[in-house]
Amino acid sequence: MQFPSFENVLLTAENGILTITINRPSKLNALNLKTMQEIEAAVAFLKNTPELKGAILTGAGEKAFVAGADIAEFAGLTPPKATEMAQRGHDILFSIERSAKPIIAAVNGFALGGGCELAMSCHFRVAAENAKFGQPEVNLGLIPGYGGTQRLTQLVGKGRANELMMTADMIGAEEALRIGLVNHVVPLANLQAKCQEILQKIFTKAPVAIAYVIESVNAAVDTNNGYSTEAEKFGQCFATEDVKEGTTAFLEKRKANFQGK
Ligand code: COA
Repeated sequence: MQFPSFENVLLTAENGILTITINRPSKLNALNLKTMQEIEAAVAFLKNTPELKGAILTGAGEKAFVAGADIAEFAGLTPPKATEMAQRGHDILFSIERSAKPIIAAVNGFALGGGCELAMSCHFRVAAENAKFGQPEVNLGLIPGYGGTQRLTQLVGKGRANELMMTADMIGAEEALRIGLVNHVVPLANLQAKCQEILQKIFTKAPVAIAYVIESVNAAVDTNNGYSTEAEKFGQCFATEDVKEGTTAFLEKRKANFQGK
């Protein structure tokens, strides 16, 4: 497989899974502009490569997933430029959230600020035992700008989101699990394997149905017509070969063999 070549993001692929690794370990994988552009291009590569069925997003090294937006790039930002930066960040993270193929965050250390926001834009999160989450922007006189005020509120509720963002407290993996920020906590050594296992299970299901789950779940939080999106997508399932295969296989008491059509 021919990968695009990037400076700060590594791509590898195995068994239909693209692993996207943010790779600036000397800066704890902080998200500078270039890295954000490369993440966007990596997600486009996932979308445009038929052999790839899903992705794991992680950080290089054992210390950090991503320690935030690159604070060095904040110097000299004017209000309009900062708004533009946030909007650009929103678009890039929307490309993850709206990916028709599942993307799991494998959180292997600090996920702070933009790192927590990046993880939250993935369809769900698996944390290593050493993962630490937080939105410490108020320490810098800022608020989250890559969707954190919205997605943290959606994931953990208004009260917990407010407290995390107002105190800038960091929480560990077990607390993140307790409040619903992550779905699983595993030893660091098992993190990739756990994500791969979940993705392989998803890959046995009907891909078009998976894409419609993603679209309908996003509609629950992004629009006020979630139910109509669900009804429409439920209807569109009946235009696929896979719904015939899935229902026939059930009645014939055999395993379905989905073609993604
Ligand atoms: N932006 C830019 N550089 C960052 C960074 C960020 N968000 N987070 C870490 N780095 C850099 C540090 O400046 C340091 O670079 P240097 O070696 O050239 O000085 C390097 O990464 C290692 O970080 P360091 O702070 O020395 O590691 P630590 O183990 O002492 O502390 C953290 C780890 C995560 C607690 C600390 O780096 C931190 O608080 N980072 C900022 C988190 C943050 O506020 N994120 C939100 C940004 S909006």
